[in-house]
Amino acid sequence: MRIMSVFGTRPEAIKMCPLVKELAARPGIESLCCVTAQHRQMLDSVLEVFGVTPDRDLDIMTPRQTLSGITSKCLLGMDEAVDQLKPDMILVHGDTSTTFAGALSAYYHQVAVGHVEAGLRTYDKYAPFPEEMNRVLTSSIADLHFCPTAGNRENLLREGRDPEGIFITGNTVIDALKTTVRKDFRFATGELNRLPYGEKKVLLVTCHRRENYGEPMKNIMLALRQIAEENRDVELVYPVHLSPVVREAVDRYLRGAPRVHLIDPLPADEMHNLMDRCYLVLTDSGGLQEEAPALGKPVLVLRRETERPEAVAAGTVKLAGVVQDDIVTMATRLIRDKRAYDEMARAVNPYGDGNACRRIADAIEWRYGLRAERPAGYEA
Ligand code: UD1
Ligand code: UDP
Repeated sequence: MRIMSVFGTRPEAIKMCPLVKELAARPGIESLCCVTAQHRQMLDSVLEVFGVTPDRDLDIMTPRQTLSGITSKCLLGMDEAVDQLKPDMILVHGDTSTTFAGALSAYYHQVAVGHVEAGLRTYDKYAPFPEEMNRVLTSSIADLHFCPTAGNRENLLREGRDPEGIFITGNTVIDALKTTVRKDFRFATGELNRLPYGEKKVLLVTCHRRENYGEPMKNIMLALRQIAEENRDVELVYPVHLSPVVREAVDRYLRGAPRVHLIDPLPADEMHNLMDRCYLVLTDSGGLQEEAPALGKPVLVLRRETERPEAVAAGTVKLAGVVQDDIVTMATRLIRDKRAYDEMARAVNPYGDGNACRRIADAIEWRYGLRAERPAGYEA
């Protein structure tokens, strides 16, 4: 069996590299890897941390790329990769433009598709944009759906997907975290070794989503500035995404505020260990909403909606929205009110137990007759 994993952005790489390696360890499987390089530096950093060398690199990234540009270049590049590598199945991950284009290309070539991190929904086609629609379209094409949670499976069943093709596996991001987080970790980024963890409250921030471009991103930056200005016991660390749109907003509204550390994107192992040591996470990222709860860190989500309701239900994640006053009020409460903080700061793992890759590989083997029993699903 030739199984080709296709991915192109930082979060996909963090969540797919452990699976590429798990598949490579299976005797009946040849694990192939094709990167679109929708991201360049941020992708290469992850490949280095996990020691994965792609079989094909479509190298499509351009500055300020458009959605149509990414999708069309991925499709054209995939033609050659599929023709030459001849996979029996293509695996795509999550909700990016690479995901949708990878699935569509597989369909054009009549190659089976496995969708990792399947079934997440907000049912609002513009939030997250364009990720919600990327997921819906990919589900329509996929043959196997690997759902992180039981709720994700329910979503797919409601849409009429065949239950035989749906597996609850947990999220592979928890598999990744198990390999990166260590109590004795030393940061290569020296500044991070010197932060006053414990003495002061280290707030970890990320923000990059397309649906936040414009007014919402401005509000978020001004809220972060106000939080840093009004709380002397806080250090705010923000590894800034390489998107020029994001960098412009940061430069315009946040740079120069006291107690704010604006740094370049971190390698995944540094980011995960920083998260493990921080006090609170403020983010619009999908991945951070899954990682921080597993590490016992409260999260304020800088979005109006989330396709990851499980940690909200568990009480460790709250939706803060994109209005300056709301974000400031919610963050200030967690900084100053210990009881409110303690109520949220509990390690929960609705997103997995670190064995998602094993379950996905087992399911693929079962589907192709390499394993007799259908693998049991993950139960949170
Ligand atoms: C994309 C995904 C989004 C995901 C995010 C993760 C889509 C539509 N969006 O966001 O779901 O949450 O990645 O980070 O697929 N850039 C670099 N170097 C890099 C990466 C990006 O310079 O390594 C710059 C380039 O100018 C690029 C821009 O950032 O054009 C934006 O990259 P892009 O992949 O288009 O980001 P998003 O669509 O915002
Ligand atoms: N991440 C990282 N370095 C950073 C910021 C994020 O390694 O400087 C990791 C983060 O821990 C998570 C993933 O990147 O594993 C999330 O990616 P991103 O926020 O770019 O995308 P999203 O999850 O929103 O799609």
